[in-house]
Amino acid sequence: LAAGDPAITEIQDWNRYPGEGVDARPYGTPSEFEGNVVRRSVSWLTADPISSVNFTPLHELEGIITPNGLCFERHHAGITIIEPTEHRLMINGLVDRQLVFTMADLKRFPRVNHAYFLECAANSGMEWRGSQLNGVQFTHGMVHCVVYTGVRLKDLLDEAGIKTTGTWLLAEGADASAMTRSIPMEKAMDDCIVAFAMNGEALRPEQGYPLRLVVPGWEGNMWIKWLRRLEIGDKPWHQREETSKYTDLLADGVARRFTWVMEVKSVITNPSPQAPITHGRGRTVLSGLAWSGNGTIKRVDVSIDGGRNWHTARIDGPSLPRALHRFYYEFDWDGSELFLQSRAVDELGFVQPTKDELRTARGENSIYHNNGIQTWHVGPDGAVENVEIS
Ligand code: MTE
Ligand code: CO
Repeated sequence: LAAGDPAITEIQDWNRYPGEGVDARPYGTPSEFEGNVVRRSVSWLTADPISSVNFTPLHELEGIITPNGLCFERHHAGITIIEPTEHRLMINGLVDRQLVFTMADLKRFPRVNHAYFLECAANSGMEWRGSQLNGVQFTHGMVHCVVYTGVRLKDLLDEAGIKTTGTWLLAEGADASAMTRSIPMEKAMDDCIVAFAMNGEALRPEQGYPLRLVVPGWEGNMWIKWLRRLEIGDKPWHQREETSKYTDLLADGVARRFTWVMEVKSVITNPSPQAPITHGRGRTVLSGLAWSGNGTIKRVDVSIDGGRNWHTARIDGPSLPRALHRFYYEFDWDGSELFLQSRAVDELGFVQPTKDELRTARGENSIYHNNGIQTWHVGPDGAVENVEIS
């Protein structure tokens, strides 16, 4: 303690005068001192902001839930603004009864609440050929985790009556990109949700207000926002988003397709390039996130010496299937340079691979599904950089 510290010895203005009354902020906003905590984009990444992406500031967040205003955005034709009373969800194709629901109709079906992560298949995609972006927000920020409220997709499909030949579903968005993806009926009937709320409030416009599809554990592209139509068919449609996009070109020229599950992954969010160590040697808290489209995370290991020695991290908070998990590793930093890594294991026993292992298996043409182990270099001054070691 610094003797004579005015923060202790003086009475501050905030301690002397009353503050604003209730209703000064009818829909609350963060403290003015948190103005740096925002979604950010990478200017050279896309040609136009209407078909672009920005990133969740993972290094500024705690726990497992992403605040709605910080969920990364990925739009193919901008944010569509829909009047909810004018919104309709249609079910057609191989059904006994073609149906059209209003928002009010949907809210008369039984509701469910689930926390799920959404990860864009392209998350970490810029890192396939080597370390590139200097910040966890940019290398890993195409992920968010919120509690969805909605109705089970199965209940709506049962209402329409799926014909025995109906084995696939096409989900279509009401935005100008009319985003469409084919989903196998087993998944549609298993755990998909037609959601109208996130973290207790209506979906944000950026996240598909008034209705979005939730496809737990599967790549973000399938979570159709501004959901307007579900067509039932007997084979996949092979839309653009499942042929020229969201397929993985292997070294031998063959493309993997229908790589739906987002596999086990983790990253250290603090320290990281945007969140260096500023306190010098001694007591240090390392924090990070882990997730798997296969279910829960069973274990996270952390290394501070580039993978030579591993320590089991402490998972704290809820461990929910297909949701983010928060982990910590507390250690005494001796002030020497560090190579920080984390490696997650999921409930099916899948272990997060190294980037070299990924490249050996899939070549270097890929963009999607990079769940490789991230390395951060910490210098003696506490500065952090995105690096790769082999
Ligand atoms: N749905 C529609 N209708 N239009 C879109 O552009 N983008 C998809 C998916 N659903 C998209 C969409 C992609 S690629 C991703 S990763 C997620 O929405 C992003 O969801 P978010 O913006 O809520 O983070
Ligand atoms: Co995406």
